[in-house]
Amino acid sequence: IVDVKGGPDEGLDRVGLMIVVAGWVRTLRAQSSVTFIEVNDGSCLSNMQCVMTSDAEGYDQVKSGLITTGASIWIQGNVVPSQGSKQKVELKVNKIVLVGKSDPSYPIQKKRVSREFLRTKAHLRPRTNTFGAVARVRNALAYATHKFFQENGFIWISSPIITASDCEGAGEQFCVTTLIPSSREAVESPVDAIPKTKDGLIDWSQVYTFGPTFRAENSNTSRHLAEFWMIEPELAFADLKDDMACATAYLQYVTVAERDFVQLSYTDAIELLIKAKKKFEFLFSLEIFDNFSGCMVQRGFSLLVKWGCDLQSEHERYLTEEAFGGCPVIVSDYPKEIKAFYMRQNDDGRTVAAMDMLVPRIGELIGGSQREERLEYLEGRLDELKLNRDTYWWYLDLRHYGSVPHAGFGLGFERLVQFATGVENIRDAIPFPRTPGSAEF
Ligand code: 4AD
Ligand code: MG
Repeated sequence: IVDVKGGPDEGLDRVGLMIVVAGWVRTLRAQSSVTFIEVNDGSCLSNMQCVMTSDAEGYDQVKSGLITTGASIWIQGNVVPSQGSKQKVELKVNKIVLVGKSDPSYPIQKKRVSREFLRTKAHLRPRTNTFGAVARVRNALAYATHKFFQENGFIWISSPIITASDCEGAGEQFCVTTLIPSSREAVESPVDAIPKTKDGLIDWSQVYTFGPTFRAENSNTSRHLAEFWMIEPELAFADLKDDMACATAYLQYVTVAERDFVQLSYTDAIELLIKAKKKFEFLFSLEIFDNFSGCMVQRGFSLLVKWGCDLQSEHERYLTEEAFGGCPVIVSDYPKEIKAFYMRQNDDGRTVAAMDMLVPRIGELIGGSQREERLEYLEGRLDELKLNRDTYWWYLDLRHYGSVPHAGFGLGFERLVQFATGVENIRDAIPFPRTPGSAEF
C-alpha cells in the first residue's frame, strides 16, 4: 500500500498492474451493485480502496456478511484510476479470500472512540491510525537515539534489571529483589573504570543505556508509568556544562530543533516563580486571568514556591511555556536536600551540580547531574542521609580506584514520545502501559 499510495504520484504509475493486498478491513460499504472495502495492510496509515462487483471470485462471502470490519483478508485485483476524490488509484477486485473472520463485536469501528476506551483494548489499538502513528514516531525516536549516541562515540551498555540496590536512594523501587529504578550505576562503572582508547574506534569513556526501568511511585498522573524506558548516557572527564551540552545536542538531534535552549539556575527559577505567583494572585483578586494563569491558580500554583522546595509540574510548565515562550529550559544547581546523594556538591555547600531539562506540555523530560567523584564527600553525604556505606561498597570502590569527574543524565523515553507526538497521556506513548493496578495484557 505504501508503494501504491505513498509516492508523489500516489500510485498512478502502477495503473494496470495486478497486485495482491493482504490486510485488515477498516470499513466496508455495500451498495446495490458495488461494494467498497477500505483495507489496511499495516505498511502505512493509508488504506487501499478496493472496489468489488458481483463478478469477483469470493463475492458471496461479502454478500453473506461474512467479511466485516476487523476481518483479515487477501485481495487480488488491478490498479485502476479512482473515480473518488480521496485517492488517485483504487483496486478493482478480481478475487477476495477471507483469512480470519472478525466477530461483529469488534471494538474499533469507524466511529470515534476515546483514548480511555482504547487503553482497555491495548492489544487492538495499534490498528487505529493514532496508535499506528505513535508507534512509528516511537520507533523513529529509538532509531535516532542509537544513531545519535553511536555517531558521537558512545558505547551502548546492557544494564541489569534485577538488582539489590536502591540506586536513587529514593525508596521508589519495586521489591522482587528489586527492579532497577535507574541504570545510572551500571553506566557509571565503565565510565569510571575503563580508560579512553587511543585509536578512537572504541571510546569507553562515553557510554549509554536504553532500556526498561521500574518505579513503584503511586502517582496516577499523565506523565508517570510504573514501567518506562530510560535513556542514560554517562560521560567521563565531564562536568555539568558538558552534561547540559550533551542533553541539548541529543534533543535537538532527535527532534530536529535548532533553537538554543534557555538555561538558568534553580535560585533564579524560584525568583521568577515567586514573581509569577504574585502576578497570578493579583490577577486572581481582580478576577481577570488568561487561560494559563487561571488554570495555574486553580491547580495551586501559588502554594509552594520558596527556595528549597522541589518544582511542581505546574511550576515547570510555567517556566517553559510562559516565562520562556515554549522553549526547553534547563534548570541547574538545585538545593542538595531535594536531590540524590550521588550528585556533586557545589562550593556553596548548599546546592549540587544537578540539572533538569523542562519542555512545554510535559515539564521534566531529563534529570541529570555531575556525579560526586570525591570519596570523602560521597561518604559524608551517605552518612548525612543515614544510608549504609556497606550497601554502596562497590560504588565507593569506583572512587578508590582512579575516579574522574563525570556526569550523565536520564531521559524518560515515553515523555519524549509524548513531547514529539503531542499525546496528552503517557499511557498512550507506550504500547502496553504499566501503571499501579494495570498489568492485564
Ligand atoms: O530524574 P530521574 O529520577 O533521574 C534518574 O533516574 C537519574 N539516575 C538519571 C541519571 O542521571 N542517569 O529520572 C530521569 C527521567 C525523568 O526526567 C523523567 O523523564 C523520567 O526519567 N521518569 C519517568 N518517566 C515515566 N514514568 C516515571 N515514573 C518516571 N520517573 C522518571
Ligand atoms: Mg528527576
